[in-house]
Amino acid sequence: MKFFIDTANLQEIKEANDLGVLDGVTTNPSLMAKEGITGEQNILDHYLAICNLVDGDVSAEVIATDLEGMIQQGEELAKLHTNIVVKIPMTINGIKAIKYFSGKKIRTNCTLIFSAGQALLAAKAGASYVSPFIGRLDDISVNGLDLIAQIRQIYDNYLFDTEILAASVRHPMHIINCAEIGADVMTGSLKSIMALANHPLTDSGLEQFLADHAKGNK
Ligand code: G3P
Repeated sequence: MKFFIDTANLQEIKEANDLGVLDGVTTNPSLMAKEGITGEQNILDHYLAICNLVDGDVSAEVIATDLEGMIQQGEELAKLHTNIVVKIPMTINGIKAIKYFSGKKIRTNCTLIFSAGQALLAAKAGASYVSPFIGRLDDISVNGLDLIAQIRQIYDNYLFDTEILAASVRHPMHIINCAEIGADVMTGSLKSIMALANHPLTDSGLEQFLADHAKGNK
């Protein structure tokens, strides 16, 4: 399972990367705005800074909703760096743009996936990744993990190459459950990734080992 970090914060990206297990980064317009990155050139520069930090895929989202605009913005993003994956929203124009980019060998991440039908359509159009938002489904009392399992089955039935990128991951159990189901990738916060390391028995066990070592070496 690939681990992506879902942030545009360079410090957090660096911290996750330093752990040695990071495979990529996902961003979205909200995450970029949260970091105060505004204006076309600043946004492009920030994506480039992320690409220079991490040796892995970096999802950069188009803002346009018309086909021509999506293609123009996507091509500009793809030109920035070979790590860039163009993130496109799940709309009819988005599907057409994904098909276009797939023909040009430009990789895409179809975002805002909330149903198996949407994931099927994106895979047929040639998306490199689909991003089902599991946390946002949980927020409305729909089990997000069930969607991951449904998409896994459909993609396995037809051997689609599209990778399932579980997004809107909120906590370590989401990551573990996605790994059990067979999501190809998960994208989560630094906190959710770091939390995988925690166990109280590890802490108390280590404390005991160190105390015993200190006693024996008195
Ligand atoms: O990058 C998209 C997704 O991960 C957003 O997560 O927490 O805003 O639902 P969240």
